[in-house]
Amino acid sequence: MKKTPLVGIFDSGIGGLTVLKECAALLPDCRFVYYGDHKHVPYGSRTAEEIRSFTERAFELFLRMGTDAAVIACNTATAVAAERLRKRFPFPVVGMEPAVKLAAESCQRALVLVTPVTANSRRLRGLMLRFPQCRFRVHSAPDLAAAIERSVLSDSPLSLAEHLPSGEFDGVVLGCTHYVFVREEIERFYGCKTFDGNYGTAQRLKKCLKTAKIGTDDHSEPLATTWNKGANTAQKRVIFVNSIQNPNKCVYSEQMFLKKLKIL
Ligand code: DGL
Repeated sequence: MKKTPLVGIFDSGIGGLTVLKECAALLPDCRFVYYGDHKHVPYGSRTAEEIRSFTERAFELFLRMGTDAAVIACNTATAVAAERLRKRFPFPVVGMEPAVKLAAESCQRALVLVTPVTANSRRLRGLMLRFPQCRFRVHSAPDLAAAIERSVLSDSPLSLAEHLPSGEFDGVVLGCTHYVFVREEIERFYGCKTFDGNYGTAQRLKKCLKTAKIGTDDHSEPLATTWNKGANTAQKRVIFVNSIQNPNKCVYSEQMFLKKLKIL
């Protein structure tokens, strides 16, 4: 029997949990290591060099843990660090990009909500140019990801009106994985649908594992669906890790993880 694939999922904080959810649903035979850089969140207004160095630190840990592939579950880090990570690490690296393509398929006027780093990236500009049929308005929200992180972790209300621009749109691109936590609120705010790249990312990961012949088709049973509950490290389906102070232990308690993401 071949080995169970181990996949690293990285984000500046809790946003990547929404990507982990999709990956775990699509790949029942995989195990995951989740690294949220809670110490340095938010990344959205940091320099490219800082983001690259934080991201590489996480990926070094993935390498030491023997991950077979990794996902940059963060649009901001993908925009500035993906190329360097791909050159430097031996395993496949899957990045994320705002779901501009999905929005362009059904919208004429779409709001693209992103962090400042993503807003200023060549990657996003190039992406939007490929879909001239849709009028995109890019809005960079410097404090929204941090506000969502605080609100989710302390279960406190968030005033979206402080962070969102007014306007009429027929679609909103959630170009930061943190925003997926408040998808319904954003849909109510604008009265239109939203788009994110989470499912597409999970599909790319699946394809990537298959292309690299990582894992196996001969698992007939999905892995334990108990996630972290009562399982020892070897059995855990998701291992939460982080650098100094190991903040994930308290930040991503399994209760919060299961409750907020409705995983089970
Ligand atoms: N969740 C991240 C993203 O998708 C970044 C949020 C932040 O740290 O600013 O862009």
